[in-house]
Amino acid sequence: MRKSNYTSGRYCRFCFGLLLLVLLSGCAGTIKQEKAAPLPSEISARASCQRQDSLPERIILNLTEEPWSSQAVTWRTFSEVSNPQAQIVRVGESSDLAGTAHTLHADSQPVALGDEQTVYHHGAVFTSLSPDTLYAYRVGDGEHWSEWNQFKTAHESPSPFKFVYFGDPQEQVRSLCSRIFRTAYKTAPDAAFWHFVGDLVDNGDKDEEWAELFDAFGWIPRTTPMILLPGNHEYPDKRYVQGKDFKLFPLWRPHFTLPENGPAGLEETVYFIDYQGVRFVMLNGNEQLEKQASWLEGILSRNHERWTIVAIHQPIYSTGKTRKDSPLKDLFLPVFDRHSVDLVLQGHDHTYSRSAKLKNGSRVTDTEEGTVYVISVSGPKSYPLSSRHQDIMDKSGTDRQLFQVISIEDNRLLYECYDVRGVLYDSFVLKK
Ligand SMILES: [Fe+2]
Repeated sequence: MRKSNYTSGRYCRFCFGLLLLVLLSGCAGTIKQEKAAPLPSEISARASCQRQDSLPERIILNLTEEPWSSQAVTWRTFSEVSNPQAQIVRVGESSDLAGTAHTLHADSQPVALGDEQTVYHHGAVFTSLSPDTLYAYRVGDGEHWSEWNQFKTAHESPSPFKFVYFGDPQEQVRSLCSRIFRTAYKTAPDAAFWHFVGDLVDNGDKDEEWAELFDAFGWIPRTTPMILLPGNHEYPDKRYVQGKDFKLFPLWRPHFTLPENGPAGLEETVYFIDYQGVRFVMLNGNEQLEKQASWLEGILSRNHERWTIVAIHQPIYSTGKTRKDSPLKDLFLPVFDRHSVDLVLQGHDHTYSRSAKLKNGSRVTDTEEGTVYVISVSGPKSYPLSSRHQDIMDKSGTDRQLFQVISIEDNRLLYECYDVRGVLYDSFVLKK
């Protein structure tokens, strides 16, 4: 999305310059005028450029830590806008949304890109919302507005819902990931949210790759909230960058407005959300792992939700042929076991692997407490499977783009994995 708008912004400026040049050169050859009155087409070109640069783009909803009463939205503009704001209104039968909408001032931050370009990211959190209620919202600056989009708040107590989980998109995101996103949306249009587990792009410091991601998403994140965590590609390559220079790329946080209820220093990468009877925990497998393990122990000790789902980019039981066993295992596995985490959602290996229900690395029966570990991939990059850990896997594969629809209703969790055609590839049920 950004690239096309950026290009069209530059194209606008180019056209405007060209138009001016033609006008001036035309004038120079005929009658000299001190101040030529702008032609209607010139005025229109200028207005169009200003409008393009002020129009919100990369609009995305994110869940907050209280999704039954609040909702976060983030967007950006090419121009600095003086009064960034969002409007929200409960949806009724009337189309007169602006007339009764509540207006909220948004926070803004400039983000310097390469080629001396600065863009402006804006974020707002709608609060004091009613549970299980449909709202319409738009974002803008009071003059240039997005379209009205709709979202529904969560129930305040346990209630059936489904969400979609994706492994790494990472490469050929515009070209080949757009279709998996569209198939996922068609398969589960009523998903409460989408859940990504990192490596959304290949080079998280390249704005043109984030442009591809938002292009591939289309309008989906404007109406389906997303929860995300960073993978290793949202960080510099650890082989070449270490110490204080090894830190989350600066394009991550401006693009999202995610909960900040995790350990200090890992804001918007490590956090938890309670959603209708499920505690979702995001971990960041890139840094400060010991701090995360003790934080995880604390929040799982105080977890009153029936289900617990943890997500982390780097797998605990790696099945990519080039991968080594993860150091995360020693830190996190005992915590997962102690608190009977139900599902661990992972990416990174560019394979598909779904374990049996495990405790301390061994299979347990359906009626015992244990954890299912899934590795999936939504993009086209594939690695060969390793024979490692195949004894504890119930399904493995590679060389296919996949997404997962996970439905939770009371004491039953239905997991369905689909390929890019929308054909079921794997499924299982967990019961409590
Ligand atoms: Fe990765």
